[in-house]
Amino acid sequence: MSAALKIDQFNLLDDESCEARIRAAKRLLGPRLAILGHHYQRDEVFRHADFTGDSLKLSQLAAGSGAEHIVFCGVHFMAEVADIVTGGSRNVILPDLAAGCSMADMANLVKVRKCWNEISQVLDPDEKVTPVTYINSAADLKAFCGEHGGIVCTSSNARGILEWSFARREKVLFFPDQHLGRNTGHRMGIPLSQMVLWDFTKPMGGLSAEEIRQARIILWKGFCSVHQMFHPAHIEKFRREVPAGKVISHPENAFEVCEHSDYVGSTEYILRTVRAAEPGSHWLVGTELNLVNRLRDEMKPRGVTVQFMSPLVCMCSTMFRTDPQHLAWTLDNLVAGHVVNRIRVPEAVAAPARLALQRMLDLAD
Ligand code: 13P
Ligand code: SF4
Repeated sequence: MSAALKIDQFNLLDDESCEARIRAAKRLLGPRLAILGHHYQRDEVFRHADFTGDSLKLSQLAAGSGAEHIVFCGVHFMAEVADIVTGGSRNVILPDLAAGCSMADMANLVKVRKCWNEISQVLDPDEKVTPVTYINSAADLKAFCGEHGGIVCTSSNARGILEWSFARREKVLFFPDQHLGRNTGHRMGIPLSQMVLWDFTKPMGGLSAEEIRQARIILWKGFCSVHQMFHPAHIEKFRREVPAGKVISHPENAFEVCEHSDYVGSTEYILRTVRAAEPGSHWLVGTELNLVNRLRDEMKPRGVTVQFMSPLVCMCSTMFRTDPQHLAWTLDNLVAGHVVNRIRVPEAVAAPARLALQRMLDLAD
Protein backbone atom coordinates (compact mmCIF):
# COMPACT_ATOMS: atom_id res chain seq x y z
CA MET A 1 0.00 0.00 0.00
CA SER A 2 1.21 3.53 -0.77
CA ALA A 3 2.30 5.80 2.11
CA ALA A 4 -0.24 8.10 3.74
CA LEU A 5 -0.68 11.46 2.01
CA LYS A 6 0.95 14.40 3.81
CA ILE A 7 -0.96 17.48 4.94
CA ASP A 8 1.75 19.78 3.50
CA GLN A 9 0.63 18.95 -0.05
CA PHE A 10 -2.97 19.84 0.81
CA ASN A 11 -2.05 23.10 2.53
CA LEU A 12 -0.90 24.32 -0.89
CA LEU A 13 -4.34 23.72 -2.46
CA ASP A 14 -6.94 26.45 -2.75
CA ASP A 15 -10.43 25.99 -1.31
CA GLU A 16 -12.00 25.19 -4.71
CA SER A 17 -9.60 22.30 -5.36
CA CYS A 18 -10.29 20.98 -1.86
CA GLU A 19 -14.03 21.27 -2.44
CA ALA A 20 -13.77 19.10 -5.56
CA ARG A 21 -11.62 16.53 -3.74
CA ILE A 22 -14.00 16.39 -0.78
CA ARG A 23 -16.99 15.80 -3.04
CA ALA A 24 -15.17 13.11 -5.02
CA ALA A 25 -13.99 11.32 -1.85
CA LYS A 26 -17.49 11.42 -0.36
CA ARG A 27 -18.88 9.78 -3.50
CA LEU A 28 -16.25 7.02 -3.34
CA LEU A 29 -16.66 6.36 0.39
CA GLY A 30 -20.47 6.42 0.26
CA PRO A 31 -22.24 5.12 3.39
CA ARG A 32 -18.92 3.98 4.91
CA LEU A 33 -18.39 7.66 5.81
CA ALA A 34 -20.38 10.03 8.04
CA ILE A 35 -19.24 13.64 8.40
CA LEU A 36 -20.59 15.29 11.53
CA GLY A 37 -20.46 19.09 11.68
CA HIS A 38 -20.96 21.40 14.63
CA HIS A 39 -22.88 24.64 14.00
CA TYR A 40 -19.75 26.75 14.64
CA GLN A 41 -17.88 25.30 11.67
CA ARG A 42 -16.97 27.64 8.83
CA ASP A 43 -19.16 27.45 5.71
CA GLU A 44 -16.56 25.79 3.48
CA VAL A 45 -16.50 22.83 5.87
CA PHE A 46 -20.05 22.89 7.24
CA ARG A 47 -21.59 22.41 3.79
CA HIS A 48 -19.99 18.95 3.55
CA ALA A 49 -21.48 17.65 6.78
CA ASP A 50 -23.93 14.77 6.43
CA PHE A 51 -25.30 15.58 9.88
CA THR A 52 -25.18 18.82 11.85
CA GLY A 53 -26.16 19.65 15.40
CA ASP A 54 -25.34 20.89 18.87
CA SER A 55 -23.20 18.79 21.19
CA LEU A 56 -26.07 16.63 22.41
CA LYS A 57 -27.47 15.92 18.97
CA LEU A 58 -24.02 15.14 17.58
CA SER A 59 -23.28 12.71 20.42
CA GLN A 60 -26.61 10.96 19.75
CA LEU A 61 -25.89 10.87 16.01
CA ALA A 62 -22.45 9.41 16.65
CA ALA A 63 -23.89 6.76 18.99
CA GLY A 64 -26.42 5.71 16.33
CA SER A 65 -24.12 5.90 13.33
CA GLY A 66 -23.42 2.74 11.39
CA ALA A 67 -20.63 4.35 9.36
CA GLU A 68 -17.17 2.82 9.47
CA HIS A 69 -15.52 6.26 9.46
CA ILE A 70 -16.88 9.21 11.45
CA VAL A 71 -15.12 12.43 10.48
CA PHE A 72 -15.84 14.98 13.18
CA CYS A 73 -15.81 18.60 12.07
CA GLY A 74 -15.91 20.04 15.55
CA VAL A 75 -13.44 20.04 18.43
CA HIS A 76 -11.42 17.39 20.23
CA PHE A 77 -13.82 16.58 23.09
CA MET A 78 -16.61 15.94 20.56
CA ALA A 79 -14.50 13.38 18.71
CA GLU A 80 -13.59 11.74 22.03
CA VAL A 81 -17.28 11.46 22.87
CA ALA A 82 -17.97 9.87 19.48
CA ASP A 83 -15.23 7.29 20.08
CA ILE A 84 -16.44 6.54 23.61
CA VAL A 85 -20.11 6.09 22.70
CA THR A 86 -19.25 3.86 19.74
CA GLY A 87 -17.01 1.72 21.94
CA GLY A 88 -13.99 2.23 19.68
CA SER A 89 -15.73 0.30 16.92
CA ARG A 90 -15.51 3.17 14.39
CA ASN A 91 -12.67 5.24 13.06
CA VAL A 92 -13.42 8.60 14.62
CA ILE A 93 -11.31 11.24 12.93
CA LEU A 94 -10.58 14.86 13.86
CA PRO A 95 -9.27 16.54 10.70
CA ASP A 96 -6.99 18.94 12.63
CA LEU A 97 -5.70 17.69 15.98
CA ALA A 98 -5.16 21.28 17.12
CA ALA A 99 -8.93 21.82 17.20
CA GLY A 100 -9.33 21.86 20.98
CA CYS A 101 -11.51 23.93 23.29
CA SER A 102 -9.96 26.55 25.56
CA MET A 103 -12.79 26.15 28.06
CA ALA A 104 -12.31 22.38 28.24
CA ASP A 105 -8.63 23.02 28.99
CA MET A 106 -9.52 25.11 32.05
CA ALA A 107 -10.19 21.93 34.03
CA ASN A 108 -8.02 18.85 34.22
CA LEU A 109 -7.97 15.65 36.24
CA VAL A 110 -5.22 16.79 38.61
CA LYS A 111 -7.08 19.98 39.49
CA VAL A 112 -10.47 18.28 39.81
CA ARG A 113 -9.04 15.52 42.04
CA LYS A 114 -7.39 18.20 44.20
CA CYS A 115 -10.73 19.99 44.45
CA TRP A 116 -12.49 16.73 45.43
CA ASN A 117 -9.85 16.04 48.10
CA GLU A 118 -10.09 19.55 49.47
CA ILE A 119 -13.89 19.37 49.63
CA SER A 120 -13.50 16.10 51.54
CA GLN A 121 -11.85 18.07 54.36
CA VAL A 122 -15.27 19.69 54.92
CA LEU A 123 -17.75 16.94 53.95
CA ASP A 124 -17.82 13.56 52.23
CA PRO A 125 -18.19 14.45 48.53
CA ASP A 126 -19.03 10.88 47.49
CA GLU A 127 -22.05 11.11 49.75
CA LYS A 128 -23.04 14.75 49.31
CA VAL A 129 -21.76 16.01 45.94
CA THR A 130 -22.64 14.91 42.39
CA PRO A 131 -19.84 15.81 39.97
CA VAL A 132 -21.32 17.12 36.71
CA THR A 133 -19.07 17.80 33.78
CA TYR A 134 -20.11 19.88 30.81
CA ILE A 135 -19.50 17.80 27.69
CA ASN A 136 -16.81 20.41 26.85
CA SER A 137 -14.21 18.52 28.87
CA ALA A 138 -11.54 15.87 28.44
CA ALA A 139 -12.50 12.18 28.53
CA ASP A 140 -10.72 11.60 31.87
CA LEU A 141 -12.99 14.17 33.54
CA LYS A 142 -16.02 12.31 32.21
CA ALA A 143 -14.42 9.18 33.63
CA PHE A 144 -14.03 10.93 36.99
CA CYS A 145 -17.77 11.67 36.94
CA GLY A 146 -18.55 8.08 35.99
CA GLU A 147 -16.48 6.82 38.92
CA HIS A 148 -18.01 9.21 41.45
CA GLY A 149 -21.73 8.78 40.70
CA GLY A 150 -21.70 11.77 38.36
CA ILE A 151 -22.88 12.59 34.90
CA VAL A 152 -22.23 14.64 31.73
CA CYS A 153 -24.42 17.51 30.56
CA THR A 154 -24.68 19.68 27.47
CA SER A 155 -26.08 23.16 27.00
CA SER A 156 -29.41 21.68 25.93
CA ASN A 157 -30.03 19.31 28.83
CA ALA A 158 -28.26 20.98 31.78
CA ARG A 159 -31.46 21.54 33.76
CA GLY A 160 -32.62 17.93 33.54
CA ILE A 161 -29.12 16.77 34.45
CA LEU A 162 -29.00 19.03 37.53
CA GLU A 163 -32.44 17.76 38.59
CA TRP A 164 -31.13 14.18 38.22
CA SER A 165 -28.08 15.13 40.28
CA PHE A 166 -29.98 16.82 43.11
CA ALA A 167 -32.31 13.83 43.33
CA ARG A 168 -29.23 11.82 44.37
CA ARG A 169 -27.04 14.16 46.39
CA GLU A 170 -27.59 17.57 47.97
CA LYS A 171 -24.81 19.40 46.11
CA VAL A 172 -23.29 19.59 42.65
CA LEU A 173 -19.70 20.24 41.62
CA PHE A 174 -20.08 21.70 38.12
CA PHE A 175 -17.12 22.01 35.76
CA PRO A 176 -15.62 23.54 33.69
CA ASP A 177 -18.12 26.27 32.68
CA GLN A 178 -19.23 28.45 35.58
CA HIS A 179 -21.75 30.28 33.36
CA LEU A 180 -23.74 27.27 32.17
CA GLY A 181 -23.86 26.06 35.78
CA ARG A 182 -24.91 29.42 37.22
CA ASN A 183 -27.44 30.23 34.48
CA THR A 184 -29.04 26.81 34.81
CA GLY A 185 -29.06 26.84 38.62
CA HIS A 186 -30.63 30.30 38.66
CA ARG A 187 -33.42 29.21 36.31
CA MET A 188 -34.09 26.32 38.69
CA GLY A 189 -34.58 28.82 41.53
CA ILE A 190 -31.25 28.32 43.30
CA PRO A 191 -30.15 31.65 44.85
CA LEU A 192 -26.87 33.11 43.58
CA SER A 193 -25.62 33.07 47.19
CA GLN A 194 -25.84 29.26 47.14
CA MET A 195 -23.73 28.97 44.00
CA VAL A 196 -20.10 29.53 44.93
CA LEU A 197 -17.11 29.88 42.64
CA TRP A 198 -14.27 27.39 42.94
CA ASP A 199 -11.07 29.23 42.01
CA PHE A 200 -8.79 26.31 41.13
CA THR A 201 -5.69 28.51 41.48
CA LYS A 202 -6.31 28.95 45.23
CA PRO A 203 -6.19 26.52 48.17
CA MET A 204 -9.71 25.26 48.97
CA GLY A 205 -10.85 27.04 45.79
CA GLY A 206 -10.63 30.31 47.73
CA LEU A 207 -13.68 29.25 49.79
CA SER A 208 -14.24 28.88 53.51
CA ALA A 209 -15.53 25.62 54.99
CA GLU A 210 -18.79 27.43 55.76
CA GLU A 211 -19.21 28.58 52.15
CA ILE A 212 -18.74 24.99 50.95
CA ARG A 213 -21.25 23.68 53.52
CA GLN A 214 -23.84 26.32 52.47
CA ALA A 215 -23.43 25.84 48.72
CA ARG A 216 -25.86 23.95 46.49
CA ILE A 217 -23.63 24.28 43.41
CA ILE A 218 -19.86 24.65 43.44
CA LEU A 219 -18.99 26.27 40.10
CA TRP A 220 -15.59 25.75 38.49
CA LYS A 221 -14.02 29.04 37.45
CA GLY A 222 -13.97 28.24 33.73
CA PHE A 223 -15.53 30.14 30.85
CA CYS A 224 -15.76 30.27 27.06
CA SER A 225 -13.39 32.79 25.52
CA VAL A 226 -15.84 33.39 22.65
CA HIS A 227 -18.96 34.04 24.71
CA GLN A 228 -17.13 36.28 27.19
CA MET A 229 -17.02 38.87 24.37
CA PHE A 230 -20.76 39.54 24.69
CA HIS A 231 -21.92 42.14 27.21
CA PRO A 232 -25.21 43.52 28.57
CA ALA A 233 -24.26 46.90 27.01
CA HIS A 234 -24.62 45.28 23.54
CA ILE A 235 -28.15 44.23 24.44
CA GLU A 236 -29.06 47.62 25.91
CA LYS A 237 -27.92 49.35 22.71
CA PHE A 238 -29.98 46.93 20.60
CA ARG A 239 -33.07 47.49 22.78
CA ARG A 240 -32.74 51.26 22.30
CA GLU A 241 -32.38 50.87 18.55
CA VAL A 242 -34.92 48.08 18.00
CA PRO A 243 -37.40 48.20 20.92
CA ALA A 244 -39.53 45.35 19.53
CA GLY A 245 -36.49 43.16 18.80
CA LYS A 246 -35.79 39.84 20.48
CA VAL A 247 -32.53 38.75 22.10
CA ILE A 248 -31.39 35.14 22.13
CA SER A 249 -28.20 33.90 23.79
CA HIS A 250 -26.23 30.76 24.45
CA PRO A 251 -26.01 29.72 28.14
CA GLU A 252 -22.19 29.90 28.01
CA ASN A 253 -22.74 33.65 28.21
CA ALA A 254 -22.29 35.51 31.50
CA PHE A 255 -25.22 35.63 33.90
CA GLU A 256 -25.96 39.31 33.14
CA VAL A 257 -26.15 38.63 29.38
CA CYS A 258 -28.56 35.72 29.88
CA GLU A 259 -30.66 37.75 32.30
CA HIS A 260 -30.99 40.52 29.70
CA SER A 261 -31.95 38.02 26.97
CA ASP A 262 -35.47 36.94 25.99
CA TYR A 263 -34.41 33.39 25.15
CA VAL A 264 -31.45 31.27 26.28
CA GLY A 265 -30.47 27.91 24.86
CA SER A 266 -28.07 25.70 22.93
CA THR A 267 -27.02 26.30 19.34
CA GLU A 268 -29.72 23.91 18.12
CA TYR A 269 -32.31 25.76 20.24
CA ILE A 270 -31.17 29.12 18.85
CA LEU A 271 -31.55 27.87 15.27
CA ARG A 272 -34.95 26.29 15.99
CA THR A 273 -36.28 29.44 17.68
CA VAL A 274 -35.14 31.94 15.06
CA ARG A 275 -36.25 29.68 12.20
CA ALA A 276 -39.76 29.72 13.70
CA ALA A 277 -39.77 33.54 13.99
CA GLU A 278 -42.42 35.77 12.43
CA PRO A 279 -41.49 37.60 9.20
CA GLY A 280 -40.58 41.18 10.05
CA SER A 281 -39.03 40.22 13.40
CA HIS A 282 -35.52 41.33 14.38
CA TRP A 283 -33.14 39.19 16.43
CA LEU A 284 -29.92 39.86 18.29
CA VAL A 285 -27.99 36.61 18.67
CA GLY A 286 -25.27 36.01 21.27
CA THR A 287 -23.27 33.08 20.03
CA GLU A 288 -20.43 32.24 17.63
CA LEU A 289 -20.12 34.24 14.39
CA ASN A 290 -20.22 31.44 11.81
CA LEU A 291 -23.56 30.19 13.10
CA VAL A 292 -24.99 33.72 13.25
CA ASN A 293 -23.83 34.67 9.74
CA ARG A 294 -25.34 31.50 8.26
CA LEU A 295 -28.60 32.07 10.13
CA ARG A 296 -28.67 35.71 8.97
CA ASP A 297 -28.33 34.63 5.32
CA GLU A 298 -30.90 31.87 5.71
CA MET A 299 -33.50 34.12 7.34
CA LYS A 300 -33.08 37.20 5.14
CA PRO A 301 -35.31 35.93 2.29
CA ARG A 302 -37.96 35.13 4.91
CA GLY A 303 -38.00 38.74 6.14
CA VAL A 304 -36.36 37.98 9.49
CA THR A 305 -33.39 40.16 10.48
CA VAL A 306 -30.58 38.48 12.39
CA GLN A 307 -27.85 40.57 13.99
CA PHE A 308 -24.66 39.47 15.73
CA MET A 309 -24.47 40.60 19.36
CA SER A 310 -20.97 42.05 19.42
CA PRO A 311 -19.42 44.78 17.27
CA LEU A 312 -16.24 42.67 17.38
CA VAL A 313 -15.51 39.48 15.44
CA CYS A 314 -16.08 36.66 17.98
CA MET A 315 -15.17 33.42 16.29
CA CYS A 316 -14.14 30.19 17.91
CA SER A 317 -10.54 29.98 16.68
CA THR A 318 -10.29 26.27 17.44
CA MET A 319 -13.51 25.39 15.60
CA PHE A 320 -12.02 27.43 12.73
CA ARG A 321 -8.94 25.15 12.63
CA THR A 322 -10.87 22.60 10.60
CA ASP A 323 -10.45 23.91 7.08
CA PRO A 324 -11.19 22.41 3.63
CA GLN A 325 -7.49 21.47 3.31
CA HIS A 326 -7.57 19.25 6.42
CA LEU A 327 -10.93 17.77 5.47
CA ALA A 328 -9.74 16.95 1.94
CA TRP A 329 -6.50 15.46 3.35
CA THR A 330 -8.45 13.28 5.77
CA LEU A 331 -10.88 12.01 3.15
CA ASP A 332 -8.30 11.41 0.42
CA ASN A 333 -6.35 9.33 2.91
CA LEU A 334 -9.45 7.28 3.72
CA VAL A 335 -9.95 6.66 0.00
CA ALA A 336 -6.32 5.50 -0.17
CA GLY A 337 -6.90 3.19 2.81
CA HIS A 338 -5.18 5.30 5.47
CA VAL A 339 -6.87 6.42 8.65
CA VAL A 340 -5.18 9.63 9.80
CA ASN A 341 -5.86 11.60 13.00
CA ARG A 342 -7.90 8.85 14.61
CA ILE A 343 -9.11 9.81 18.10
CA ARG A 344 -8.90 6.84 20.43
CA VAL A 345 -9.71 6.98 24.13
CA PRO A 346 -8.03 4.13 26.06
CA GLU A 347 -10.67 1.69 27.38
CA ALA A 348 -9.57 2.25 31.01
CA VAL A 349 -10.74 5.86 30.63
CA ALA A 350 -13.50 5.23 28.09
CA ALA A 351 -15.39 2.70 30.26
CA PRO A 352 -16.11 5.04 33.23
CA ALA A 353 -16.55 8.00 30.85
CA ARG A 354 -19.13 5.93 28.93
CA LEU A 355 -21.00 5.37 32.18
CA ALA A 356 -21.32 9.13 32.76
CA LEU A 357 -22.27 9.74 29.12
CA GLN A 358 -24.77 6.88 29.11
CA ARG A 359 -26.48 8.31 32.21
CA MET A 360 -26.95 11.50 30.20
CA LEU A 361 -28.07 9.79 26.98
CA ASP A 362 -30.56 7.64 28.91
CA LEU A 363 -32.14 10.79 30.33
CA ALA A 364 -32.43 12.36 26.87
CA ASP A 365 -34.49 9.42 25.54
P1 13P B 1 -23.85 23.51 21.84
O1 13P B 1 -23.74 23.44 20.35
O2 13P B 1 -24.03 22.15 22.44
O3 13P B 1 -24.89 24.49 22.25
O4 13P B 1 -22.45 24.01 22.42
C1 13P B 1 -21.77 25.11 21.99
C2 13P B 1 -20.31 24.96 22.14
O5 13P B 1 -19.64 25.78 22.66
C3 13P B 1 -19.65 23.81 21.62
O6 13P B 1 -18.38 23.86 22.05
FE1 SF4 C 1 -14.89 25.83 23.45
FE2 SF4 C 1 -16.12 28.22 23.46
FE3 SF4 C 1 -15.08 27.26 21.20
FE4 SF4 C 1 -17.26 26.13 22.26
S1 SF4 C 1 -17.09 28.20 21.44
S2 SF4 C 1 -15.47 25.06 21.43
S3 SF4 C 1 -16.82 26.37 24.45
S4 SF4 C 1 -13.94 27.82 23.08
